[in-house]
Amino acid sequence: MARIVIPREVAEDMSGYIVHPALMDAFLQGITPFLPEEQEDETYVPVAVRQVKFYQRPGPDELLWTHAVVRPATGEQGTLEGDVFLLNEQGQVLLEVLGFRLQSLGGDNTQEFTRQRLNQLLYTLEWRPQARREQPGQGTLRKRWLIFSECGELGESLAERLHAAGAECIVVVPGDSYRQLAPRQYEVPPADPRAFQRLCEEVWSEGSEEIPTDIVYLWGMLTTPVCDGMLDLEQDRAESGVLHLLQAHAVAKGNSSSRLWLVTSGVHAIEEQDRATALLQAPLWGLGRTIVYEHPHLHTTLIDIDGMAPEEQAERVFKELWSDDVEDEVALRGERRYAARLARYHLRDEQARPLFRSDGTYLITGGLSGVGLRTAQWMVEQGARHLILLGRRVASKGAETVIESLRAAGASVHTMQVDVSREQELAQALAWLRRELPPLRGVFHSAVVLDDGTLLQLTRERFLGVRPPRIAGAWNLHRLTLDDPLDYFVLFSSAASLIGSPGQGNYAAASAFLDQLAFYRRRHGYPALCVNWGRWGEIGQATRESRGQRLDARGFASMRPEDGLAILGTLLRQSPPQVGVMSFYLPDWSRFYPNLTASSLFNSLAAESEAQEEQRDSGPRLTREMLAELDAEQRQRVLSEYLSNQIARVLGHSSLKLDARLPLNWLGIDSLMSVELKNRISADLNVTIPVTTFLQGITFEVFLTQIAEQM
Ligand SMILES: NC(=O)c1ccc[n+]([C@@H]2O[C@H](COP(=O)([O-])OP(=O)(O)OC[C@H]3O[C@@H](n4cnc5c(N)ncnc54)[C@H](OP(=O)(O)O)[C@@H]3O)[C@@H](O)[C@H]2O)c1
Repeated sequence: MARIVIPREVAEDMSGYIVHPALMDAFLQGITPFLPEEQEDETYVPVAVRQVKFYQRPGPDELLWTHAVVRPATGEQGTLEGDVFLLNEQGQVLLEVLGFRLQSLGGDNTQEFTRQRLNQLLYTLEWRPQARREQPGQGTLRKRWLIFSECGELGESLAERLHAAGAECIVVVPGDSYRQLAPRQYEVPPADPRAFQRLCEEVWSEGSEEIPTDIVYLWGMLTTPVCDGMLDLEQDRAESGVLHLLQAHAVAKGNSSSRLWLVTSGVHAIEEQDRATALLQAPLWGLGRTIVYEHPHLHTTLIDIDGMAPEEQAERVFKELWSDDVEDEVALRGERRYAARLARYHLRDEQARPLFRSDGTYLITGGLSGVGLRTAQWMVEQGARHLILLGRRVASKGAETVIESLRAAGASVHTMQVDVSREQELAQALAWLRRELPPLRGVFHSAVVLDDGTLLQLTRERFLGVRPPRIAGAWNLHRLTLDDPLDYFVLFSSAASLIGSPGQGNYAAASAFLDQLAFYRRRHGYPALCVNWGRWGEIGQATRESRGQRLDARGFASMRPEDGLAILGTLLRQSPPQVGVMSFYLPDWSRFYPNLTASSLFNSLAAESEAQEEQRDSGPRLTREMLAELDAEQRQRVLSEYLSNQIARVLGHSSLKLDARLPLNWLGIDSLMSVELKNRISADLNVTIPVTTFLQGITFEVFLTQIAEQM
């Protein structure tokens, strides 16, 4: 038992907390006298708590006691476990922390502890076999379909089947200009946003606007796959078409609910015989995963088909369309059906071995700043002696200083101004490298440009503007180093393509190319590792944007660079094809994107999070049913409080004093916050809110009235 004296500064600050962090720390120290005396120098860290029971808030002037009860050792070496109680002078228990566990960092425990901590950051995408759909017709079939046909058998055959099942089909093919080819048949140029607007006006014209219409998008299949090792990088019909379709749909249909099916062919490498050559369809997956956040009412479903005759493809896809299935991401392979799950990835035990050869050269694109430059430093620490760092611009003063320190440490570091998306420039740099430096042993592709915006804000040019370093750059690196004796070919991709990223649909799409390139290379016997990084702390793009702090509050925290690099080292040794490395907490994330709780991609993580979630405040929720119980005056007050709390939450405040007559956008609500607000409020109250509402100068007063009218 020990007495706690609260210092004045802590006492003055206590009103903002249930239990002040400094008091919590002092109170938990109550267990430390029980640490083994013979290991005085040993460091113990808290690793687990079974239960916390809070009874009463300690007052700043109270005399407090901490009482610890330590249980006999559980058998695990280097751990201490007990229950700790906080009591006041009267002996009343204010707080209990039960099953509080400390673990020694000594020897093996340090390694194990670090491994466990790093494992928390790791994710992988698993394709899990699913039950086959036997018969079509087990769900609801929409009455109206818009099919963006790939001008081949699949589109035609789907239209026929839907028609035979009693549905109306409107078929759209890509062409040079907007034309109606026949009744319910249109030609639309993928690059022209106005043509999509005309199409949507036509499709949802007077009389038909209320009929729910599902959309099947097959245009991704118009891009040619890798053929004889070549890829036509100019093709963008797949993504441009979807972008323009979404924008036109938003104007014509607002938030009304329908379903969007994005069908690709040959993107994923799931079974041995899969082609995985449709690299230019891969961006649709990154894009589709982002549409899920920004346009939840479209209930986007991604389907990848492979290894089937045309008739079988049509039959299998048709069964998918005619079902009320809850899977968001499906792969169809002959008779087999797989569904994607984001799952935990675990590092294996390993014998540390040197990662880099002192007589080999390592190339880092984007190596003159951020993550690339930090990786270069780490590589030198790990024994690399010849580095070549590429960027389009000359090294900044700060980068020069770092590079000088690497040279002082004994490494030869070369910098070159090369645009990796330009084949000739890269080829020349590689030719020089092969002449002047030891053999190229590793490529680390870290080059990136960003141009964030929601899908409604992005033009085709902005959408495609982030592609060159990602798509052309990665492809050039792949092709031009095929004959080099590489140990590593590492693609620095992003969490954006793995789990989607609101406001970064272009980046998510371009990054998805990197993900599939890794699989493609491995299929052909070349080394490849794709790392889908989450946010790095201290360095790189994420520290330059204002998004950082917002993302912290949304369960997407930053990682310490040393953790990222320690993981990179292990991944290089263990060589999986693709791993997500991110500090990600699903319950917080889905609080801002409530539709994710129904997303099958996050299914297995959601189950894990549920237990943690129960203990956390899930924020003020309100439902129509709750409001219906109230009289008019109460309803208005509760609704007003709820809406102002939601606005406070997206702005990162615990509460907010609103002047109801001032425009909400004066508070700093941006387009992403708009998406979050719309998603959350419409999910809770089942109301329709156009996404542009908060950006158009609406006042709280008017907003409240608009919502109240829908109750
Ligand atoms: N930092 C993070 O939190 C984070 C999160 C997720 C993923 N990542 C991934 O980690 C990698 C590095 O990100 P970062 O934060 O370090 O970005 P960064 O600081 O902006 O560095 C990117 C570098 O790429 C170079 N670059 C851009 N286009 C190029 C081109 N066409 N040819 C050659 N170099 C080009 C840029 O230099 P020039 O403009 O001079 O060419 C810049 O030095 C990226 O792949 C990124 O997607 C980072």
